[in-house]
Amino acid sequence: MQKRAIQSVLAVLLVAGMATSGALAQQSGGNAEAARGKTSMCIGCHGIPGYRTAYPEVYQVPKIAGQQPAYIVNALKAYQSGQRSHPSMRGIAAGLTEQDMADLAAYYGGGGQQ
Ligand code: HEC
Repeated sequence: MQKRAIQSVLAVLLVAGMATSGALAQQSGGNAEAARGKTSMCIGCHGIPGYRTAYPEVYQVPKIAGQQPAYIVNALKAYQSGQRSHPSMRGIAAGLTEQDMADLAAYYGGGGQQ
């Protein structure tokens, strides 16, 4: 009897988790607080008003704050795997762990500041 109750609670949690995953950064395992020390790597390019890089050439930098967390993680993975080929971002993504990506996605996707 009690086992059954636990099972139905778990089922509800599972369904609720699936429904909201992706919508809420916290549930994708990312921690926006933990990203604070990591964004120093991104601020130089993604935090400049006008979003342009100076090196290797003047290049339009996309705005990532407010982007969907899942989109940010996918983009970073694509740079890491070489599916996306931009050299600066490939260099950055190469040094990130899955947790770093999730944390950064939670930070930027959660409406964090540049
Ligand atoms: C040297 C400058 C530079 C740094 C540092 C940098 N980025 Fe980027 N980032 C870029 C540029 C330029 C692009 C666009 C590249 C392209 O066209 O694929 C980009 C693209 C992205 C994208 C894809 C955006 C989109 O709309 O598809 C994400 C996500 C991203 N950066 C996240 C980060 C994160 C997180 C960091 C810090 C860990 C970081 N970047 C550090 C320059 C930089």
